[in-house]
Amino acid sequence: MITAADDLRFTLDTDSSKTAMNYSRFLTAVSAARKPSPIRILTELQQRSPPTLISLAGGAPNPNTFPFHSATIKVKNGPSVVFDETTMKRALQYSGSYGIPELISWMKDLQINLHNPPTAGYSPERGHMEMCVTTGSQEGLCKVFEMLVNPGDNILLDAPTYSGTLAALQPLGCNIINVPSDQYGMIPKGLKEILSRWDPADSQKPGSTVPRVLYTIPNGGNPTGASMTTERKREVYELAREYDLLIIEDDPYYFLQFQKPWAPTFLSMDVDGRIIRTDSFSKILSSGLRIGFVTGPKPLVDRVVLHIQASTMHTSTFTQLMVSQLLHGWGQEGFLKHVDGVVEFYRKQRDAMLSSADRWLKDVAEWHAPAAGMFLWIRLKDIADTQQLIMEKALEKEVLLVPGGVFTIDSSVPCPYVRAAFSLSTPQQIDEAFRRLSVLIKEAL
Ligand SMILES: Cc1ncc(COP(=O)(O)O)c(C=O)c1O
Repeated sequence: MITAADDLRFTLDTDSSKTAMNYSRFLTAVSAARKPSPIRILTELQQRSPPTLISLAGGAPNPNTFPFHSATIKVKNGPSVVFDETTMKRALQYSGSYGIPELISWMKDLQINLHNPPTAGYSPERGHMEMCVTTGSQEGLCKVFEMLVNPGDNILLDAPTYSGTLAALQPLGCNIINVPSDQYGMIPKGLKEILSRWDPADSQKPGSTVPRVLYTIPNGGNPTGASMTTERKREVYELAREYDLLIIEDDPYYFLQFQKPWAPTFLSMDVDGRIIRTDSFSKILSSGLRIGFVTGPKPLVDRVVLHIQASTMHTSTFTQLMVSQLLHGWGQEGFLKHVDGVVEFYRKQRDAMLSSADRWLKDVAEWHAPAAGMFLWIRLKDIADTQQLIMEKALEKEVLLVPGGVFTIDSSVPCPYVRAAFSLSTPQQIDEAFRRLSVLIKEAL
């Protein structure tokens, strides 16, 4: 599948004489100091070798001593995932830090098919598209931040944003700069204005304070439900080129877009190799299996993998094999058909939430219909801060929502928003929850 991004790409300046990215200038000292683990290199080597190889090298335990024998996992609409004795032994064993080869290669094919990234054809040094498996996209995000962010660095993002991002970023001691946004995501004009504090020429100077990293959730933002337009992405990408920024495209709701064609991604526009994209299977296959992916320029993904080598070593081989078998059984067509079914479910849920919001909250609140994801971001018109209303009064009435302050950079600033998820409750429950909320709001006024 060739996406609308193809047209777009040709409108960008793809002049190959432009100097290649200097990836080392983005790394923290900790990340730059990481070295490959010699034992992990041997594991990767063993993974690629024929079964005739006799290895006395690794410290791997003997899987014959493990208690699990085999398993058959029934799949709702398709062939079972079978772990025969041999596969089970592999599933229970250590594996390579990039991810198991058959899952990575399946995912690379999918990325190329969906996003057709220009970097797929680049040399490694110029930022060839590389991928690794992570234990949920949260692990990838956290490791990407730790690779790039020093104390005192200026980091750009459009808040309110995912609380897991703030949890990973704020302890790094960076200075988070809030870029204005609306229901269509980050506003390029606002970004331009912020960046105009600096001279782009200073970005390459050692010790410069020019931001080097921009983070955004381009589809169905958590918590706002905002989805960025193609035009905005293109403008933000051009600004990133001017100021030599890396863009972290955190896109776990990409597969939950309610309209087709799906929006072209930053990855699809990445003529320079400055996009680090995180994908997640949490919303479409399972959140508990913890499977996510980092896609980006090889010099940076390699650094993330060095961090993985030194921490988790790899995402569970068992869950990777389970997902890989499912995907190989389905093929891309089967996978995308499954995704269509998931989208249909969430579309109905969203519509149910919107009509309940209309029924109960029209006079006291406002919102935008989200084009992707699983959240409705509701502004209560006459309540300056929702913390007490939600955490005390709503809880008493047995309604659970998230007060908006959780998603802001400074949670002590009053926030009139609440986040409502339409993922788990039935339309009847959603309706009853909003009825109770409307009573509470009226009482509070
Ligand atoms: C915007 C965003 N990024 C990342 C994640 C992490 O997802 P996971 O680690 O399950 O892939 C979430 C989870 O809700 C999210 O909303």
